[in-house]
Amino acid sequence: MKAVSVPIYQCNGGDIVAADVYSSIGIVLLAKGTTINDYIKEKLIDIGIEYIKVFKPIKEIKYQIIKKNYLETITQTKEFICEIASGKKFGLEKVMNISELVYQSINENDSMLKCINEIQESDEYTYTHCVNVAYYSMLIGKWMNLSEESIKKLAFAGLLHDIGKVKIPDEILNKKGKLSKEEFEIMKSHTVIGYGMLDRIDGIDIEVRQAVLLHHERIDGSGYPFNASPDRIPLYSRIVAIADVYDAMTSERVYKKRQTPFDTFEMFKTIGIGTFDPTILNIFLKNISTCYVGTEVTLNNGYIGKVVYIPPYDITCPIVNVGEDYIDLSSKNNLKVASIGYAL
Ligand SMILES: [Fe+2]
Repeated sequence: MKAVSVPIYQCNGGDIVAADVYSSIGIVLLAKGTTINDYIKEKLIDIGIEYIKVFKPIKEIKYQIIKKNYLETITQTKEFICEIASGKKFGLEKVMNISELVYQSINENDSMLKCINEIQESDEYTYTHCVNVAYYSMLIGKWMNLSEESIKKLAFAGLLHDIGKVKIPDEILNKKGKLSKEEFEIMKSHTVIGYGMLDRIDGIDIEVRQAVLLHHERIDGSGYPFNASPDRIPLYSRIVAIADVYDAMTSERVYKKRQTPFDTFEMFKTIGIGTFDPTILNIFLKNISTCYVGTEVTLNNGYIGKVVYIPPYDITCPIVNVGEDYIDLSSKNNLKVASIGYAL
């Protein structure tokens, strides 16, 4: 535990006060060692106390730092995309700074996945999605043992993969219902538009531009914009494709509810297996699934538990500890994970 100064609104019931709290005229309002509850918190806010010192577990402090960093990355991505959309010059340095911020979280899987899971504001989706795809692409690069330079380039490619969407009308981008054939054709053009935007900028590697152009191509030739055959789909495009779909499926959108990681694993292992690079997909699934051990989950019968084991041979069916019981979801046809939360 460590004593940290936190805004009063960020205190939780159960936090222990780490230093006496004084009023403006020097009277002790709250003694060190007091346990915070809602009543005390409300009173302190009423009096106008803004910060107090409380003891927080080291893990939680670390999480707050990662979360701040993640939110800052989203803010900067939003600024950058809004600038491009308003016709301003492409700020290469800005994107490099943002991808550097993403890179700083490369070894913080637990905290980052908790952030991604917690911050699901659908009106900010465009920006959070870019950051998340950068993060997942970077992780795949790390798990594939690529060089640091390649991993950084992957974060860069993830951030920019949908940049062409700044030219797609909002009513198509955020349409609640199914896109018409014409609308889908317009939507598909974000790949070519994005490539064209980056093609004019010095200092952006060809692999990054290719990822922007080809991240919707699929190895069975079913993708767009070219229905490219596998030999025409480079490594970065294959990686960003998986990162993109994983984040899209596990995110809330205006027109769809998010899926749990376990449902998404199921999709990748069935329809996804013939459309994504199988080697990269296996590396991704093998590694990302282990990140969910320890996660709090709610089952579809309302029970709340904790994932204690994810069998490597069936990552879609974790073993969940509920109270005294250990439930193997592979042996319970009617039971599944309905939603996830995190406990650090
Ligand atoms: Fe895209």
